[in-house]
Amino acid sequence: MTDLVVYDIAELAVGPGTDEPMETIGNAAVAVDDGEVVAVGDTDGVTDEHPPSAADAAYDAAGQAVLPGFVDPHTHALFAGDRSDEFEAKLRGKTYQELLAEGGGILRTVEAVRTADEDTLLANLRSHLDVMLEHGTTTVEVKSGYGLDTETELRMLRVIGRADEQHPVDVVPTFMGAHAVPQGMDTDDYVDEVVEEQIPAVAEQGIAEFCDVFCEEGVFSVEQSRRVLDAGMEHGLTPKVHAEELAHIGGTELAAEVGATSADHLLHSTEEDVDALVDAGVVPVLLPGTAFGLGAEYADADVLLDVGAPVAIATDFNPNCHSHSMGFAQSLACVGMRMTPAEALRASTVNAAAALDLPARHGTLREGAPADLVVVDAPSFRHVPYQYGVNLVETVWKDGERVQG
Ligand code: NIG
Ligand code: FE
Repeated sequence: MTDLVVYDIAELAVGPGTDEPMETIGNAAVAVDDGEVVAVGDTDGVTDEHPPSAADAAYDAAGQAVLPGFVDPHTHALFAGDRSDEFEAKLRGKTYQELLAEGGGILRTVEAVRTADEDTLLANLRSHLDVMLEHGTTTVEVKSGYGLDTETELRMLRVIGRADEQHPVDVVPTFMGAHAVPQGMDTDDYVDEVVEEQIPAVAEQGIAEFCDVFCEEGVFSVEQSRRVLDAGMEHGLTPKVHAEELAHIGGTELAAEVGATSADHLLHSTEEDVDALVDAGVVPVLLPGTAFGLGAEYADADVLLDVGAPVAIATDFNPNCHSHSMGFAQSLACVGMRMTPAEALRASTVNAAAALDLPARHGTLREGAPADLVVVDAPSFRHVPYQYGVNLVETVWKDGERVQG
């Protein structure tokens, strides 16, 4: 018995091929059983063995393309408050750092999150997950980091865990107590608190998988970041690094040294940084929406792709970069970083899954992959970045369950 057959697919994107970023099958079908892809190939072959009429559910995707569900490997999607006025201030010339130094930016969101109760935070996150799912995202990483004290950081991670349980989108939790320094506090004293109090408390509750740090000029130095990541690793948290977003201070090399799963942003990385990342097997996560919003130069995707790095992209959805859409991230990756649509799709699926240490096959639609399927109302995956500003997602299955459309 088959749970689901999707057939007559105009173009099925199955995952990276041996010498192409994305292999596709025309006039294709996928069969799903028990939440997994059990057969994939041309419609005749698959439907001979898995007749749509005998399946629990069948879907005729004539004229439409089917892609793996998007994996968004870097977001700060749990927050409260409204920073749209900062969007306007930045358009008038204020910089991100100036806003932060005045107690705005992250610190303003911290105030709003500290005073929000758990149910309000949960409702906020769930509503953002709804929008992400509508745009084809089936797995998302969400960071804490708007608490900056033990109690609020734990509350954020609890909410992230509850959202994961309640929502069809899979949510991967990252602890990011070292996201900014609380107002009026010395940075080293705050790093002591993160290392001695926050990380042990988070680890004891087992509510985070990764530990991230904002290694940035005027925020946490390389040495301070290393302390945070080392403490995280001692407590079983896998490191990730926000590296070279606003300036080049050595965050990428730190990521390579500690063997981080990913180094993210990389707007100011050098060629040496790229070599170090590749040698250490660190996944580069590029966030073109952030560069777009800041009016900054995009990361150099070419130099990474040239050396065969598994480039991933993410929305970086947060109050400073208010986009839920991996499709928009793909448009920006193509237009802003000159990635091909196939590279952008690979970056949004299998490489993004690698940035979250997900098991092999995640982010593909090969046999044995989780049945996270997205139908787009267009004949090719290329249309996702090509039709910018439009959501082409029609139907989504998560682990074989129809959850959208
Ligand atoms: O990745 N750079 C640090 N964190 C976020 C911004 C968070 C915020 O401004 O609220 C980022 O861009
Ligand atoms: Fe971030």
